[in-house]
Amino acid sequence: MTSPGQPPHDPDADPKAELRVIAAETPPDSTLNDSFVVLSAGGAAVLAVVFAVALLAGGPLPLYGGALAAGLLLLAVAVRRYFTDRFPDVEAVEPRAIPGAEAAENEPLADVAPVGPRRTFLKRFLLAAGAVFGVGIAVPPIASLGPAPRSTLRTTAWREGRRLVTTDGVPVRAADIAEGGLASLWPEGAVGEERAAVVLLRLSDPPRPPTVAAWVVAPGLVAYSKVCTHAGCPVALYRERDNALFCPCHQSTFDPSRGAVPTFGPAARALPQLPLGVDADGFLVALGDFQAPVGPAFD
Ligand code: FES
Repeated sequence: MTSPGQPPHDPDADPKAELRVIAAETPPDSTLNDSFVVLSAGGAAVLAVVFAVALLAGGPLPLYGGALAAGLLLLAVAVRRYFTDRFPDVEAVEPRAIPGAEAAENEPLADVAPVGPRRTFLKRFLLAAGAVFGVGIAVPPIASLGPAPRSTLRTTAWREGRRLVTTDGVPVRAADIAEGGLASLWPEGAVGEERAAVVLLRLSDPPRPPTVAAWVVAPGLVAYSKVCTHAGCPVALYRERDNALFCPCHQSTFDPSRGAVPTFGPAARALPQLPLGVDADGFLVALGDFQAPVGPAFD
């Protein structure tokens, strides 16, 4: 809407044509300033490389910490010098029409001088230095992630026919576990491999689903992973009265008579059941590996 005395708005008019310059400060053409930008940006890129190499090679903290701090400082200086010391600083206002004034008084005054063409080399150098700097500080954290675990988190040492043995490497028979008893056992040949540890229990009543009945050695002998599905502590305590298998770390409780589902505490996943059988010599053996990942969930 146009007020009285104000010229009608022309949508096609160049908006800059109606600006009035109040102050304009054009920095002198300075090769010294450009050199300063180049040196600062180049120094920042070099220091980022020093940071990455020193950190990956296990260098001392003052070396890579100092390189990172100095690199950041130089990059900031380069950016600041590039933007504030190379372009004109122009202050301008858009004049408003004065009601009742002569048309001549309302005429647009000066135009704003356009920003001159940028020197592409300096811009590209600054961008390249920034890219090198970004890569330099990103490489160490990415490299520290280490190799992908692949299938190692999904498999253990259990194989078909591998016997269950005590910490001393002694194979176990079904008759060795009394009713209400619990034993911590390992795969033969892999004693101490924590992810493969199992608890073997003899339940007084036959377990119910989701316990896999085919993996129960009668009567009531069942094995579950000993690694708590909350945060990986060893599950170690069994209370026969109410079929409660405890993890001492945060009191997660599992029901071994129902597939070791969690009944209390922070654990959200059942302890994987070990496929259990008996070999021709009467020793307890695995019929295969766990069918679910052991320990805390990871995907
Ligand atoms: S590790 Fe078992 S409850 Fe937390």
